[in-house]
Amino acid sequence: MEVKTESINTALAPRGPVLVKSPAEPQGLARWTGGLSRISAASTWESALEDALDAPTILIVDGLELNRRLLKGILKATNYKILEAARPSEAFAMLESEKIDLVMADLVMSEMSGIEFCGMLKADRRTQLIPILMTTGVQGVENEVAGLESGADEFLIRPLKPSLVRVRVRTMLRNKALIDSLEEAETILFALAQAVEHRDRYTGQHCERLAAYGMGLARALGLSKADQLTLFRGGYLHDIGKISIPDSILFKRGLLTDQEWEVMRQHTVRGEEICRPMKSLAPVLPIIRSHHERWDGTGYPDGLRGEEIPLLARIMQVADIYDALTTARPYKPAFSHDQAISMMQEEAKRGWRDPELVPLFAEIAHPLQTADPTPWRESAEMQESLENMRRHISR
Ligand SMILES: [Fe+2]
Repeated sequence: MEVKTESINTALAPRGPVLVKSPAEPQGLARWTGGLSRISAASTWESALEDALDAPTILIVDGLELNRRLLKGILKATNYKILEAARPSEAFAMLESEKIDLVMADLVMSEMSGIEFCGMLKADRRTQLIPILMTTGVQGVENEVAGLESGADEFLIRPLKPSLVRVRVRTMLRNKALIDSLEEAETILFALAQAVEHRDRYTGQHCERLAAYGMGLARALGLSKADQLTLFRGGYLHDIGKISIPDSILFKRGLLTDQEWEVMRQHTVRGEEICRPMKSLAPVLPIIRSHHERWDGTGYPDGLRGEEIPLLARIMQVADIYDALTTARPYKPAFSHDQAISMMQEEAKRGWRDPELVPLFAEIAHPLQTADPTPWRESAEMQESLENMRRHISR
């Protein structure tokens, strides 16, 4: 039986540029045979983020070379990139040219006070989200209060305790990574993606389920946490391009005309265009563009074939089809797991789906769909992360 999603129509759109494959793209799934044992491995949102990010950059602003050297010594064993500035003017120049994740500034400096420096960083939209750890040898709670009021996020008084400095730095960098991961525009996009799905009352929690299926399959394959995070985002964003499809087509009862299919297929390309300006979403773009390609090259928008189709897009496609089959839609009932898998295997035989991904998905999808709590919910941290994401979306 043919799955009734917008992927049914096989007429091809003009072939566009072939996207660069993910670095994790394999030559065959067999090389991950050990990956199945990792299905239930604990995986947290935060550690996935940390893995996905480059080494954080810390800027130390202090007029005394001895103090800068001391801080560098304390952070020596870590994986941070450390920059130094002796004066605020030098610091501002570095903030212009480098992506700084944390500023460590002394309260007393030349050119201006540490409090003024801090206030300037927090007043500038480009630097206001950079956390500031202020240090000083000047005793007195009034200094601490003034520093924190000027926008410093933490305040430490010398003599510094190395272990305390390292813990504070790590915590502040982790918070910065979370902020980076959900930059304002991205949060709006996630909200839009949810709005698109919620307009169709039949799809319900479709995005959440896709995110869970995608991540489950990624873990089964032993993919990196960065890839899992990409699939999580892809679960929400893969159909964001539908926002540009007229309601008369998107919600049409009955068959679409060839012309309407032409418009519908554009949601892949439009979605990529919408998300392309956001650097942090770059890994998700291949999922958005290529989730309707087919293994035999009859999909859209580029007619990619086999492993030309980015792996994460193939994973999202399998999850998408399974979810479409196992939930009720106006034109079909909800099929059972076994029925859905046999239909997908049929499609794999026909040459439409990745022949190795479908049976692997069959192994993991059943517990994902039916168990309560589902395996991906075994990780309390992951569940909390998903809740956080939902809170961000509903704000
Ligand atoms: Fe789609």
